[in-house]
Amino acid sequence: MHAAYPALRLRRTRASTWSRRLHAENVLTPADLIWPLFVTEGESVEEPIATLPGVSRWSVDLIVERAREARDLGIACLALFPNTQPERRSDDGGEALNPDNLMCRAIRAIKQAVPDIGILTDVALDPYTAHGHDGIVDDAGYVLNDRTIEVLIGQSLNQAAAGADIIAPSDMMDGRVGLIRDALEAEGHVNVQIMAYAAKYASAFYGPFRDAVGSRGLLKGDKKTYQMDPANREEALREVALDLAEGADSVMVKPGLPYLDIVREVKDAFAVPVFAYQVSGEYAMIEAAVAVGAADRDAMALETLLAFKRAGCSGVLTYHALHAARLLAG
Ligand code: PBG
Repeated sequence: MHAAYPALRLRRTRASTWSRRLHAENVLTPADLIWPLFVTEGESVEEPIATLPGVSRWSVDLIVERAREARDLGIACLALFPNTQPERRSDDGGEALNPDNLMCRAIRAIKQAVPDIGILTDVALDPYTAHGHDGIVDDAGYVLNDRTIEVLIGQSLNQAAAGADIIAPSDMMDGRVGLIRDALEAEGHVNVQIMAYAAKYASAFYGPFRDAVGSRGLLKGDKKTYQMDPANREEALREVALDLAEGADSVMVKPGLPYLDIVREVKDAFAVPVFAYQVSGEYAMIEAAVAVGAADRDAMALETLLAFKRAGCSGVLTYHALHAARLLAG
């Protein structure tokens, strides 16, 4: 039982800072971070989001400044989400197809001013629908799969035409990745990537995000007929297999921390680029702990983000991206 000791002491390599650095198996850098940003109408507008302390919606002119800051700190990519004006929301989410919608204006402005940062765009109709669902609903409130995909294809092409680099379908309709890929190819967008929200769970952690895009008060019912049951892991592997077969370049697991087991399983099973979304409720949980003095923000942000790397992630979508990048810059 004591055969290894004292010859073997695992504490030996932990005894100094340089040695701990030398033996680190994983490392977090700003290039691992994708920063989600919320866009709002107007000029020089900043709207703080009460349930996401420290996060604001920004008008397009100020989003461009955020993009510049992120680029200067080495952040690889932004994820954009619009807060659509109420009068532009409708049952069919048609505003998603408007080439001059808030998203497209933000994409174009960033691409023009800061061309060397990636832009990821969410494909789903919830920021545009009057009922807050990700797709077209029937009279019973059921989200119709195939009819929704028709609109999602148009939304994807609209975003790609505006300059999006990564199309990220977050709607969980069956078969949409393949059909979006076909449409992108047909329109010549051969280098526009698809990052599929492959294993996206019907989670209690999305509340503050829905405040940010203004869909919380609108949402009728829940999203359990399209997002996954938190009880399931085999189903996550099937979702990932399908999205990869349909042409996804990378896959996402969402939420993040409570689902690191899924991240690791997907990475081991498929050996493809895996990303995780540390979602709004996770961010809010950390900030709540910081607010009552129960946690150190810097340490907790960096530890949780490193944990994603250890679990097998190529990168993480996180509202702490700018803060973490500053810390990593020293
Ligand atoms: C929309 C979408 C959601 C999130 C990202 N894209 C919310 C939802 O599915 O209801 C959540 C992100 C977060 O909570 O930070 N389809």
